[in-house]
Amino acid sequence: MKLTLSSFLPAMLLSTVTLADKVPWERLNKDDALLLIIDLQEGLFQLARDWDATLYRDNMIAHSALGQVFDLPVVMTTSAQVGPNGPLPQEILDMYPSSPLIKRGGEVDAWDNPDFRDAVRAANKSQIILAGIVTDVCTTFLALSLRAEGYSVWANIEASGTTTPLIRDISNSRMAQAGVQVVSLFSIVCDLMRDWRATPGAEQLFPWLDKYLPAYGYVARAHKAAILNGTVIQGEDILPTKKRGVKMVA
Ligand SMILES: *[C@@H]1O[C@H](CO)[C@@H](O)[C@H](O)[C@H]1NC(C)=O
Ligand SMILES: *[C@@H]1O[C@H](CO)[C@@H](O)[C@H](O)[C@H]1NC(C)=O
Repeated sequence: MKLTLSSFLPAMLLSTVTLADKVPWERLNKDDALLLIIDLQEGLFQLARDWDATLYRDNMIAHSALGQVFDLPVVMTTSAQVGPNGPLPQEILDMYPSSPLIKRGGEVDAWDNPDFRDAVRAANKSQIILAGIVTDVCTTFLALSLRAEGYSVWANIEASGTTTPLIRDISNSRMAQAGVQVVSLFSIVCDLMRDWRATPGAEQLFPWLDKYLPAYGYVARAHKAAILNGTVIQGEDILPTKKRGVKMVA
């Protein structure tokens, strides 16, 4: 039998589940969380080939905007930004003009840079939300270093990018085995919000989701349009719904 990666996959998945179960489930708390923006640089963007470029650009901006809506402290860092890696997109820099931006001269793992470590420690938070380019290097190295330091870490899988889906998958699995919570943007948003009646809650998050997660924002738009000037049309009127005194218009 020819051995390929897929021959090992079921065993790999099983061991991921077993090891991840050893890490206790922990919920994000907006008062304990720090947002990290790691090397989402214009040059490195070209390496994020596991995403459609437009979608990935939007995901980077959405990740960065988490700090605004939840009023989280933010630390940004770049790797050798005067070279081909380039600067962070101006849209991200404009969000946090007074947050620390650590321009690393050469350290690949941001945790190796003393100014970056100081900035993270100064925030005095135990929960770290991060994403970076590339997933297998900048995101994974830092996530593992933070776990080794005792931090709880959430990796926003939608805002990290790398060269291939295979490399993304093994990197996310490697992080998960080290106890990193490997999660989606919406999962982070809902965990931080907890309750639509909270602040920030529906009032702040509907406009935010409309901008950064239209899959949900447009549900809200459609609901609003239906309430303000909607009509139950022919065919919809016979769909199974409990009628509560609603007048059907055919
Ligand atoms: C750091 O956070 C802890 C827990 O929230 C708090 O008790 C402590 O006073 C904080 N330290 C500083 C220097 O702000
Ligand atoms: C409401 O819907 C009707 C019928 O589709 C349309 O004629 C009317 O212009 C709409 N009014 C508003 C305020 O959108």
